[in-house]
Amino acid sequence: MALLGNCGAILGAIMRAALVLHGPNLNLLGTREPGVYGRVSLAEVDRLVTAHGRRRGVRVECRQSNVEGELINWLQGAAREKFDGVVFNPGAFTHYSIALRDAVAAITLPVVEVHLSNIHGREEFRRHSVIAAVARGQIAGFGPRSYLLALDALLTLGDGPAPARVNSRRRRGV
Ligand code: DQA
Repeated sequence: MALLGNCGAILGAIMRAALVLHGPNLNLLGTREPGVYGRVSLAEVDRLVTAHGRRRGVRVECRQSNVEGELINWLQGAAREKFDGVVFNPGAFTHYSIALRDAVAAITLPVVEVHLSNIHGREEFRRHSVIAAVARGQIAGFGPRSYLLALDALLTLGDGPAPARVNSRRRRGV
């Protein structure tokens, strides 16, 4: 289990709408390696996170794609579509997609990286995320609850410390 965050000093914006993005193979949740990912379907995860948002006064929209470019387009368009933050499970792209990393770095909306499994306790190749350094934080290892915690993390940004000198230094590659 991991809860990693980057904190800073400026006040964040109010969270009214959040976009939840699921990457490749997450459409198979429920039947895909249930010993690792559990038996809860993606539709059920979406229902849980949407209901969680509703209880907190946040509109949640969930999308899944197996296509890297589609995820990039959704990230790039999120602010234009009036979302205030993104909960993002990049699936296996987490570990090697520089294009997705660059998209997360390019947008100004806060992005919380999320994983069902504890990637830090799994195979060596899953322990590194190329997304983590440019996300606002990462939540991993709590199954479907990871998404609810990630949404709460986004909400916390609304009334707490926001973006991150650490982050911006990292973005510049310092
Ligand atoms: C995952 C972890 C990734 O390593 C894997 O490729 C996935 C799911 C997770 O939610 O635990 O597809 O992102």
